[in-house]
Amino acid sequence: MKVSFIVISALGLVRREMLRLLVLVATGLWALYTRWKRRRIHRVCKEVPFCGLPGLPLIGQAHLFAGNDEDRMKLLQKLGKIAVKHGGMTSVWMLNKLYVVIADPAIAEVVLKSCLDKDDTTMKFVRNLVGNGNFVAPETSLGVDLNSQQQSNHPFLEAFETALHLLSERLLCPWLYLDCVYERLSRHKTFVAKKDFMYRFVDELIKKKREELSTRDTNGMNGMKSEMRTFLEMLLESSGGHQGYSDIELREEVLVIVLAGTDTSAVGAAYTAVMLSRYPEVQEKVYQELQEVFGDSDRPATAQDLPRLKYLEAVIKETLRTYPAVPVVVREVLNDVKLPNGKKLVNGVGVVVSFCAIHRHPAYWGADADVFRPERFLEGPLKHPAQFMPFSYSFRNCVGSTYAMMSMKTVLSALVRRYRLRPAALELRPTFNVMMKDGSGYALGIQRRRTFGDKLI
Ligand code: HEM
Repeated sequence: MKVSFIVISALGLVRREMLRLLVLVATGLWALYTRWKRRRIHRVCKEVPFCGLPGLPLIGQAHLFAGNDEDRMKLLQKLGKIAVKHGGMTSVWMLNKLYVVIADPAIAEVVLKSCLDKDDTTMKFVRNLVGNGNFVAPETSLGVDLNSQQQSNHPFLEAFETALHLLSERLLCPWLYLDCVYERLSRHKTFVAKKDFMYRFVDELIKKKREELSTRDTNGMNGMKSEMRTFLEMLLESSGGHQGYSDIELREEVLVIVLAGTDTSAVGAAYTAVMLSRYPEVQEKVYQELQEVFGDSDRPATAQDLPRLKYLEAVIKETLRTYPAVPVVVREVLNDVKLPNGKKLVNGVGVVVSFCAIHRHPAYWGADADVFRPERFLEGPLKHPAQFMPFSYSFRNCVGSTYAMMSMKTVLSALVRRYRLRPAALELRPTFNVMMKDGSGYALGIQRRRTFGDKLI
């Protein structure tokens, strides 16, 4: 009895040990096989100067992205600076994916011309928020007054802001990538609640617009009442009214345009206003130019006025150079790319083109690259076509850049004609919230200007 018990126990032990050994061997073989399969990526890792930031087993440098939106922006900026120091590129591991950060316009030009596919991870999370909307050109998107000046905490804007914050956090924190993990966290609940709210808001609008359109059709009125039509109205019309886009497709198109167009231009204009408030001599020059174009009139700006606002344009560009609304874009390498510095990127590598680093690269912008000096945009051609690209470059660049410049000029000219802008916050606190936003809330003071004798405008 005793002997058989000992034999059975010994056999059980041997079996357990063999199983453990088998698991070990299998894991080892799997690791070797994966390493062999990814040997070309590891070659890139050897070729491209490493960022030198501390990494952890399995997750690489990903842990450094823990923290808040401001910390994440600082880290992105730091990586850009490291890349500049290493001749325009550096590498970083996020989980098992190698990302190459590009900070040189000549390298970025080749990458943006060759790698047109957006990074899978980025697109997965962006789609989770806005769906599969195509990227098409708008006007104003919703046709509803969100009254954002008076009511900056409008529920739609608030939901949009929170959803963007959660999206950008997830983009840069790989431990939040797995759905089965993320769905157990309270932030997922918040994300879904905000997303649902945004969807309901847009769906309600679409319903109203459809009803409006069908009432007009039955009344025999072709087309819209006014010349000014919203993006949503145009989509409905151009797709054949209710026979065209489904409600879901319409919602996706509208959300994409809110994300790609509205917020970026608002961020660009807000940062420019803050820079004007901090540089009174620049603001004065803008005001003089506005005086030359508009004189004593308080008429609104027209499309013909805008090209004449050359100095204001230089100020907006200088703001987008120093604080690009889109600080980085991410691309996936599908086919091997030979770079101008002789190095090669291969399939499976991710590329982060850092506009914030390229826009301050001293070899292209000079020793005063960090100084806010709009005049540099009036001093003749730049050294490289890709050294300034707030709207990206090449085939997948921004379709709304002209519209964005026009809308920012319109808003800023109206503001400076009426108000003197004064600095409020001590410093700007750039944050990464899909876009580069300001953690100080673009704080500035305004004082009404007294012009036209004593007449207030
Ligand atoms: C200051 C304002 C803006 C900035 C800084 C900006 C910047 C950018 C950048 C950098 C990209 C490339 C993104 C990437 O490659 O991943 C982009 C793409 C895009 N932008 Fe803008 N944008 C602005 C305003 C607008 C406006 C007003 C619209 C629409 C009216 C718009 C529509 C788009 C669309 C549809 C794309 C996607 C193009 C594509 O992927 O094929 N943007 N934008």
